[in-house]
Amino acid sequence: MTAIRTEHLTHTYSVGTPFQKVAVDDVSIAIEEGEYVGVIGHTGSGKSTFIQHLNGLLAPTSGKVCIGEQDLWADKSKLRSFRFAVGLVFQYPEYQLFGETVYSDIAFGPTNMGLTQEEVDTRVRQAARFVGLSDEKLEKSPFELSGGQKRRVAIAGVLAMDPKVLILDEPTAGLDPKGRDKILGEIREYHEEKKNTVLLVSHSMEDIAKNATMALVMNQSRLFCYDRVEEVFGRAAELGKMGLSIPQVSRVFLSLAGMVPGIDPRVYTVQAARDQILAKVSERGQGR
Ligand SMILES: Nc1ncnc2c1ncn2[C@@H]1O[C@H](COP(=O)(O)OP(=O)(O)OP(=O)(O)O)[C@@H](O)[C@H]1O
Ligand SMILES: [Mg+2]
Repeated sequence: MTAIRTEHLTHTYSVGTPFQKVAVDDVSIAIEEGEYVGVIGHTGSGKSTFIQHLNGLLAPTSGKVCIGEQDLWADKSKLRSFRFAVGLVFQYPEYQLFGETVYSDIAFGPTNMGLTQEEVDTRVRQAARFVGLSDEKLEKSPFELSGGQKRRVAIAGVLAMDPKVLILDEPTAGLDPKGRDKILGEIREYHEEKKNTVLLVSHSMEDIAKNATMALVMNQSRLFCYDRVEEVFGRAAELGKMGLSIPQVSRVFLSLAGMVPGIDPRVYTVQAARDQILAKVSERGQGR
């Protein structure tokens, strides 16, 4: 089943002014349910503009966005329910915290959905657990928390709506490597448990390699490609021309493939590299 589909989606900012800019240009794509999609592209390539269309935060200048089989803009009275179905975590979401307590902040979304207090409570506690926030933190003011914890509260607020599609715009920006790995690990666990669709915008190819199944590449407002991660990283030279680098281990393997026969260059995690080297060594050991 398709989770989200766009047809010739185009968005132009500031139409009719000197600042007019086509930020998303004729993007047609179908994202299947359950995929973990890494969204990559150079600064200004249109990633944030694109994802803000997927829950109706921005309206297309032309073209269509469908959630499942339904056109997002066909009936404006349904827009609200689509916003619950597609949860969007902005870049630096901690700036949008406003609740008196962490609990009330996380509860805001599910309360708006019209759930009972009991259901809201279950959702809040479950979402907090996903992002590693202890019960005792729920009663604190969000402003007493560290940067990484604030960001977790903001992510939990979206998880608590139990969206079928979860979109995160650079959720690890500005965090240290430990904080980055922790948040990505939590999102990965959430995805594995809920089997929902995740879109992760990231500048880090390593993060995409470790987490995503599919990669969506934007280049100068257009969709360059949407394919399995290993296929996309196999197009290193083209990505390089767009100013995107592939993971370090993929670069090493691309060079190795030119020197050692039988090496598969489509390696993009250290684990896969290790497995392939060990297999090669054992072949040699057996005199093959
Ligand atoms: N509100 C706006 N008004 C006019 N132009 C805008 C607006 N927002 C973004 N743009 C322009 O649209 C283009 C795409 O921007 P967008 O923020 O979608 O890119 P991005 O891929 O998310 O970039 P980054 O990696 O820096 O976050 C850029 O040229 C940007 O300057
Ligand atoms: Mg952006």
